[in-house]
Amino acid sequence: MGGTHFAELKIDGKTFKFPIVVGTEGEKAIDISTLRKETGYVTLDPSFANTGACCSEITYVNGECGILRYRGIPIEDLAGKKLFIEVAYLLLHGNLPTEDQYKQFSILLNDHSLLHEDMRHFFDGFPRGSHPMHIMSTMINSMATFYPNVDTLSLSEDIDTTATRLISTFRTMAAFAYKKSIGEPPVYPRSDLSYCANFLNMMFDSPVKPYKIDPEIVDVMNLLLIIHADHEQNCSTTTVRTIGSAQVNLYATISAGVSALSGPLHGGANQAVIEMLKKIHSGGHSAAQFIEMAKNKNNPLKLMGFGHRVYKSYDPRAKIIKEATRRILKRLEVKDPLLDIAMELEAKALSDSYFIEKKLYPNVDFYSGILYRALGFPTNMFTVLFALGRLPGWIAHWKEMVSDDSSKIVRPRQIYTGRTLTHLE
Ligand code: CMC
Repeated sequence: MGGTHFAELKIDGKTFKFPIVVGTEGEKAIDISTLRKETGYVTLDPSFANTGACCSEITYVNGECGILRYRGIPIEDLAGKKLFIEVAYLLLHGNLPTEDQYKQFSILLNDHSLLHEDMRHFFDGFPRGSHPMHIMSTMINSMATFYPNVDTLSLSEDIDTTATRLISTFRTMAAFAYKKSIGEPPVYPRSDLSYCANFLNMMFDSPVKPYKIDPEIVDVMNLLLIIHADHEQNCSTTTVRTIGSAQVNLYATISAGVSALSGPLHGGANQAVIEMLKKIHSGGHSAAQFIEMAKNKNNPLKLMGFGHRVYKSYDPRAKIIKEATRRILKRLEVKDPLLDIAMELEAKALSDSYFIEKKLYPNVDFYSGILYRALGFPTNMFTVLFALGRLPGWIAHWKEMVSDDSSKIVRPRQIYTGRTLTHLE
């Protein structure tokens, strides 16, 4: 960080110097925080493709080489090898938990797993068929009314309790929302079950058909949540940091993150991929026709689950999910024609000059939906699962921001292009 190197900027015959900042992995940035003060100019970078909004120690992504690391640890060493709550702890606290820390965290997650009973009735107020992502963002926002001390979080224990409550109850709320949508009674969390087993049980257990917990399915649930746990300054995390910078309470902040994630260009893509594959399967278009439509500039359609702002190589998360999907479908003896279509689409796109030249590869959302389907999740729950996984990442970024004394409210500038001074007659 910092250093003695400078970038020079020449404007109107005058030269200005700005320090070059280098990250621990060699990423370079020009620190222009004094630009406007010194030159009167601002930068213009719509959609922030060239803007580093902060320095962060949480997650490293190298899009050119397909690298993803949480706190320095490669995703390949975590997904399928650790539990989701261990990775949540890693993101929140910087290190994997010791045995004692793990036990303590598990106890806290269990203690905070019950939804306030009065909140249960909120589900009755949503119209039938409401999208669970809309329900989730509303429910999370309303938590501030039940736990108002969130407005004055100052002690680190208070922050940890709120973070734990969020990670634990989000799971309960998601399962309740699903049960409500299918007209079944809610299933309460159980203290004898692990985080993921508990979630699967709350989702799929019923008074007339007890759910049999399968350790392999629990493992794959852990893997899926770990894969989604953080991805540095993506749209929803940037939302969380932006909203949080106004010192909005953590529940409202996370609720905004959930809303940002729901968009089809972001987390909502996992649902959009399945809808696209179903369309192809039902005979609407062939895979080849779909690819041609996605390449056509005059057609707004995109190949969903393909492309990424940062990855210009194969998304390492997609690689892990593709492998897990094949394995679980075989293990469950599920023959899903959508997997064949997805593989055909991928092969066609990866050998097509349009996708090669633009460096468009499958992203995390391309195969995840097929796996969620195999586990029994309905399509409209896919993005909720993404959000459940992403919670520790959002909270870790929020914590990092509030504990940084130099953080200020996020407030970009603009270049005004409207009417000049126009007096009323
Ligand atoms: N299908 C067809 N063309 C594409 C696609 C696609 N999926 N993605 C990008 N392109 C084209 C795009 O039209 C543009 O072409 P041109 O240079 O001729 O204008 C070029 O590739 C660069 O794309 P971009 O839209 O400028 O890239 P971006 O960084 O602004 O957008 C993206 C990234 C993920 C929003 C975009 O690739 C996309 O819309 N993909 C489909 C939706 C999707 O799968 N989203 C999930 C993203 S990963 C998980 C997450 O973030 O939640």
